[in-house]
Amino acid sequence: MEGFMLLIFCSLMVSTVTVAIATDSITLGQSIRDGETIVSAGEGFELGFFSPGKSKSRYVGIWYKKVSTRTVTWVANRDAPISDHSGVLSITQQGTLVLLNSSNYTVWSTNVSRTAKNPIAVLLETGNLVVKDGNDDNNPDRFLWQSFDHLCDTLLPGMKLGANLVSGLNRFLSSWKSLDDPAEGEFKHMIDPRGVPQLVLYKGSVIQLRAGSWNGLRWTGVPQLKPNPVYTFEFVWNANEAFYRFNIENSSVLSRMVLDPAGVVHRLIWVERTNRWESFSRFSGVTLDQCEKYAFCGAYASCGFKMNSPVCECLEGFIPKFPDEWNFSDWSDGCVRRTKLGCEKGDGFLKHKSVKLPDTRHAWVDKNISLSECEKLCLKNCSCTAYATADIRERGSGCLLWFDGLIDIRELSEIGQDLYIRLASSEIANIERKRQSRKKILVAIIVLSILLATGLLMLGCFLYRRKRKLSNQEAPQSVQIECNNQFYPFQAWRLWIEGRPVELINKSLDNSCALSELLRCIHVGLLCVQQAPEDRPSMSTVVLMLSGERSLPQPKQPGFFTESKPPLSESSSSISKEIPSSTNEITFSLLEPR
Ligand SMILES: *[C@@H]1O[C@H](CO)[C@@H](O)[C@H](O)[C@H]1NC(C)=O
Ligand SMILES: *[C@@H]1O[C@H](CO)[C@@H](O)[C@H](O)[C@H]1NC(C)=O
Ligand SMILES: *[C@@H]1O[C@H](CO)[C@@H](O)[C@H](O)[C@H]1NC(C)=O
Ligand SMILES: *[C@@H]1O[C@H](CO)[C@@H](O)[C@H](O)[C@H]1NC(C)=O
Ligand SMILES: *[C@@H]1O[C@H](CO)[C@@H](O)[C@H](O)[C@H]1NC(C)=O
Ligand SMILES: *[C@@H]1O[C@H](CO)[C@@H](O)[C@H](O)[C@H]1NC(C)=O
Ligand SMILES: *[C@@H]1O[C@H](CO)[C@@H](O)[C@H](O)[C@H]1NC(C)=O
Repeated sequence: MEGFMLLIFCSLMVSTVTVAIATDSITLGQSIRDGETIVSAGEGFELGFFSPGKSKSRYVGIWYKKVSTRTVTWVANRDAPISDHSGVLSITQQGTLVLLNSSNYTVWSTNVSRTAKNPIAVLLETGNLVVKDGNDDNNPDRFLWQSFDHLCDTLLPGMKLGANLVSGLNRFLSSWKSLDDPAEGEFKHMIDPRGVPQLVLYKGSVIQLRAGSWNGLRWTGVPQLKPNPVYTFEFVWNANEAFYRFNIENSSVLSRMVLDPAGVVHRLIWVERTNRWESFSRFSGVTLDQCEKYAFCGAYASCGFKMNSPVCECLEGFIPKFPDEWNFSDWSDGCVRRTKLGCEKGDGFLKHKSVKLPDTRHAWVDKNISLSECEKLCLKNCSCTAYATADIRERGSGCLLWFDGLIDIRELSEIGQDLYIRLASSEIANIERKRQSRKKILVAIIVLSILLATGLLMLGCFLYRRKRKLSNQEAPQSVQIECNNQFYPFQAWRLWIEGRPVELINKSLDNSCALSELLRCIHVGLLCVQQAPEDRPSMSTVVLMLSGERSLPQPKQPGFFTESKPPLSESSSSISKEIPSSTNEITFSLLEPR
C-alpha cells in the first residue's frame, strides 16, 4: 500500500515537472533566460531568444513551434538588439514585461495603463503574448497589454489591422530592415483612418499604393478575393474602430500575411508536403503597372493602358494643368476644370463608369442614404466634387462624397465602380453632344458590318445554289446549315434572343465604349436590319434610342432569310412564321432606316 502511494506521488511529481517545462506563461519572480522558451498550450507558438538570418544579435521573439523553418511572427526588442546571450525577460509587480541585459539595463519594456494584483504573461495559442491579471480569463477587454496591439511585419489570423478610433492606437504592419535585421524598415501597410478609412502601403512618409476604401465586398481598388476554403475576412468600421481581420476556417492550417523588407505584402500558407510557405496572393509596390502607383496622374485624371504603356487622361471636362509637361508624359500635376463650377444652380454630374474610386482621405460617408439623395447632398454643398455608392452589396446603398481634387483614379473595367463627377452644366451639355455623335458613328459601323457580312454570305449561297442546280445534287447537310442559319445578322439576332449578346462583341472594336453602350448599339443595329421595313426605326428614332431615351423593343428576325424552313422552332411568333424565300433579293432599302 505504501509502495502504491509512493508510486502515485512519484508520477504526480513527474507530471508536475513536465508541465513546468512546457509552461505557456511567465509569472512574478519567474524569468526566461536566453536558451529557455515558453510554448503556447496547444504547441502552436513558442517564445524565446533568437538571432535572425546571419545576425549575431539576440532578440526576444515568437515563432511557429510546428514549422520546421524558423518563422518569426513577432519581435519584442526589434530596435534594441542584445549583443550577447545574457538577456533575461521577466514581469514586474506592476505588470510590465522587461528585458534586461547583463548590466541590468532595461533594453525593452512594455507600457501598461493600469496595474494588476497578480500579473502574469501568457503566450496564447493564437500567437498573442498577453499580460493579464492571473485571476482573469482570456477576455481581451481586460488584458493589460498584448503583442497583437504592437504588430511587426506579420498579420496572424484574428489579429486586427487597423485603428482604435477612440484611443488613437493604430495597428499596422511595418517591414523588417532586412532578413537579418528586424528593426523597423521603410514600409508600412496600414489602414489610414482619415476621412473614409483606406488600406494603403507607405514607403517612408509617402503613400505608394492605395487599395482604397471598403465597399462592402472588398477594397475598391483591388480585385475581389475569390471565395476560398482557407480563410474568411471582415472589415469592421464603426464609431469605435476601423479594422481588417482574417480568420482561418480550419485551425490546423497555418496562414499569415507578411510585409517583406522590399515592401511586398504576401499571403502565405504552410504546406507540409513541400515544407515551405507557399504564396497565394500579393500586394506590391514592386510592379510593372504604373497605374497602380499612387496619384500617378495627379488630380482629376485617370490612368489607363494604351498600347501597353500607361497613359493619363484628364477626366472629361478637365484639361491639363500644365499642357507642355502633360505632352511630355509628366502627369503628376494633373488636370483642372475647363469650365468653372456654377455651384448649386449651374452644376450637374457626369457619370464615369468602372473606375477605381479616388482617394477618400478627405471624403465623407453617409451609410444610410440612397444614391439620389447622395446627388442632392453633393449638389447642395459647393465644395463637393463627386459622389458614389458607398456599399455595393445587393443593389447598393450609402453615399460617399468627395471634397477635394480627385486623386488616384484609374480605369478598372471589371471591378471598378461608377463615380459621379461634378461639372458645370454647360460642360455636361457639351460632353453629351460629343458622346452622341460618337455613338452614331459606332452604330453606323455595326450596321454596315452586318450588311457586309450578309452581302458576302448571300453571294456565296447564290453561287453555291446555282452550282447545285446545275449539277442537280442534294446539298450536304453542313453546307445547308451554313447557308441558312449561320449568316451574321441571323446569328447576331439569335445570340441576342438567347440572352448571349456579349459573345458578339469583338473586344478590340471600341475600348472607349462601355459594355452597356455597346449592347445598346447592337440592339439598335438589330432593329435596323429587321425583316419588315415598317419595323425598322427611323433615323431620328435611332438617335433617341442611342441616347438611351427610348426603351427598345425586342428585335424581330432579320431580313434576307434564305430558306423557307425556320431554323429555330421556338415559340416566338416572329420565329415560327413562314419566311418567304423571295427575301433572297437584297434590297438596299435596308441602308436607309425609314
Ligand atoms: C546593456 O545595455 C546598455 C545600453 O545599451 C549598454 O550600455 C551595456 O553595455 C549593455 N551591457 C552589456 C553587458 O551588453
Ligand atoms: C542585476 O540584478 C540582480 C538581481 O537584482 C543582481 O543579483 C545582480 O548582481 C545585478 N547585476 C548587475 C551587473 O548589477
Ligand atoms: C507609456 O505610456 C505613457 C502614457 O500612456 C506614454 O506617455 C508613454 O510615451 C508610453 N511609453 C512608451 C515607451 O510607449
Ligand atoms: C484541416 O486541415 C487538415 C490538414 O490540411 C486536414 O487533414 C483536415 O481534414 C482539415 N479538417 C477539416 C475539418 O477540414
Ligand atoms: C501637345 O501635343 C498635341 C498633339 O501631340 C498638340 O496638338 C498640342 O499642340 C501640344 N500642346 C502643347 C502645349 O505643346
Ligand atoms: C441608419 O439606419 C439604421 C437602421 O436603418 C439606424 O439604426 C441608424 O440610426 C441610422 N443612422 C443614421 C446616422 O441615421
Ligand atoms: C460643405 O462640406 C464641407 C466638408 O464636409 C464642410 O466643411 C462645409 O461646411 C460644407 N458647406 C456647407 C455649406 O454645408
